Amino acid sequence: MYKILKAELLADKIYLMDVEAPRVAKSCQPGQFVIVKIDDAGERIPLTICDYDAEAGTVTIVFQCVGESTYRMADLKAGDAFEDFTGPLGCPSEWINEDIEELKKKKMLFVAGGVGTAPVYPQVKWLHDHGIDADVIIGAKTKDLIILEKEMEAVAGNLYVTTDDGSYKHKGMVTSVVEELVEAGKQYDQCIAIGPVIMMKFTCLLTKKLGIPTIVSMNPIMVDGTGMCGACRLTVGGEVKFACVDGPEFDGHLVDFDQAMKRQQMYKTEEGRALLRYQE
Ligand code: NAD
Ligand code: FES
Repeated sequence: MYKILKAELLADKIYLMDVEAPRVAKSCQPGQFVIVKIDDAGERIPLTICDYDAEAGTVTIVFQCVGESTYRMADLKAGDAFEDFTGPLGCPSEWINEDIEELKKKKMLFVAGGVGTAPVYPQVKWLHDHGIDADVIIGAKTKDLIILEKEMEAVAGNLYVTTDDGSYKHKGMVTSVVEELVEAGKQYDQCIAIGPVIMMKFTCLLTKKLGIPTIVSMNPIMVDGTGMCGACRLTVGGEVKFACVDGPEFDGHLVDFDQAMKRQQMYKTEEGRALLRYQE
């Protein structure tokens, strides 16, 4: 069993949990994910890692309540435990294997949309720990949905916060900030965009136009998370890829986002029915 040491509400329907998982914490790297299972009958839920502490043996996850399983997860408190906490899964971010001196020469821009701010955090923190300060944009629909702002401020070179409704800091979607930064003369060698698929699609359309190579982190429906079932398949550069073993990070300029969005909608009716049954 994997004990929950801390359970905290970050924003409406968005929770953070510190979980005791020493073996996962020891080998975690930025970009990877875990699959959690509440109990024997529970669904396997893939979640990108938000933070990890090898010494303390803890892994931090952030999730949003969207269906029955995540609502059940939100009911868990500190002291409760997950039956399964499998990971780290997937490939670490490719750039962490680059020569550190070469990496230091690169201007990196992270674009984080909503809950996607959580998986961006360990990447920016890793760079900061290696003497590299990246620019970071965090976007949310409204002020109350901004998460991890203080944490990100501590590790980012420059942090730009934007809300769709203008209730906090800049007004507009993350793409409008990218455009403004570039128009103001900022130059980037690499962009990493993580958030809803629609946000990653539009960020990639823009960065393609601007000539900035862009990595995205895909989180399609997953079952085994080990490349066996094919549930997480995507088309990248005309080839079929499995997000769980070939990703979750891919060249965003090659991902077929429209197909990914269609596949994401496939189980919406069943998911909705299960949530209604749970909430009755
Ligand atoms: P959201 O819908 O509130 O969007 C967050 C921000 O993304 C917006 O504020 C805006 O700045 C930007 N955005 C949205 N649509 C855009 C568009 N068309 N063009 C440009 N920018 C746009 O986000 P949310 O509700 O927090 O997101 C939840 C989604 O994020 C879920 O679908 C979840 O699966 C996904 N998610 C993905 C990852 C990942 O690893 N890729 C991780 C966590 C969550
Ligand atoms: Fe089964 Fe990726 S989740 S192949």
